[in-house]
Amino acid sequence: MIRHLLSVADLSVDEVWHLMFMAQDIKRGVLCPEVKKIIILLFEKPSLRTRVSFEVAMWELGGRAIYLSAQDVGWGRREELSDVAKTLSRYAGGTVARTFEHRTLELLVQEGSIPVINALSDREHPCQALSDLLTIYDKKGKVSKIKLSFIGDGNNVAHSLLLLSSMVGMDFIFCSPPKYRPREDIWSKAQNLARDSGCHVEYIPDPKLAVKEADIVYTDVWVSMGQEEEADIRRKSFLGYQVTPELLSYAREDVIFMHPLPAHHGEEISSGLLSHPSSVVFDQAENRLHVEKAILAWLLS
Ligand code: CP
Ligand code: NVA
Repeated sequence: MIRHLLSVADLSVDEVWHLMFMAQDIKRGVLCPEVKKIIILLFEKPSLRTRVSFEVAMWELGGRAIYLSAQDVGWGRREELSDVAKTLSRYAGGTVARTFEHRTLELLVQEGSIPVINALSDREHPCQALSDLLTIYDKKGKVSKIKLSFIGDGNNVAHSLLLLSSMVGMDFIFCSPPKYRPREDIWSKAQNLARDSGCHVEYIPDPKLAVKEADIVYTDVWVSMGQEEEADIRRKSFLGYQVTPELLSYAREDVIFMHPLPAHHGEEISSGLLSHPSSVVFDQAENRLHVEKAILAWLLS
């Protein structure tokens, strides 16, 4: 059966930990899997980390990655997406796709016959969340009795992190203006998962209260790719939700600060915050490589 990774919830909790332990071994150099295949990177939006980490991962696994922008392919204009999916399935072992609409990923799954990995859609960013879990586990040595406070937009990054935290039993506090809370279906799914894993999911609109006793303070941009027209209104709505050294001082003393990058300095974070002693953002970026190697080896082998 072909497996895909469109959502973190496509994985069982056991599979999540299997990927984490594989990624740790890959990072330590005690596991060097081979994936002598070709993957297609099909990207509708810009990327630094996701594109480069997947290209480096495939190269180091003994395979190759071919990058195609939406412009290169012209899907929906030059050619139907269903024909693109069928054609790519004849050449490659997998597709890693970054799309505006999550539905586009579902169509790639439906019409193609090779594994599809979500490299970020409007709904989720599973590779980021799995890499973040490795970072948290590396830094804290555990995930239960750990509290993650997410300050900012209820976006793709927040959705995957919320679901994954709830699956593995990590407390998740979400803090935003009411209009920018996560999607209702994802919130209720996370609540059910949290009930099973015995952790706590809560919405607290006040940033200072939300970060109280937090082990992790996490934020992401207020304006995601594709939301540029809402930029002004979003920047106004999120005033007061910036993560600053002062806000971090309300969290636990050994708090770590996380951000998936790219960051907008002076918006969701005060300038200089990426260099704060609590910041682990470049460890997060590095862990993309190790976790994606584990995902590729697991999914494509
Ligand atoms: N965090 C992340 O996915 O970065 P890119 O958009 O640069 O790939
Ligand atoms: N929420 C951001 C994440 C970028 C990695 C976006 O979708 O643009």
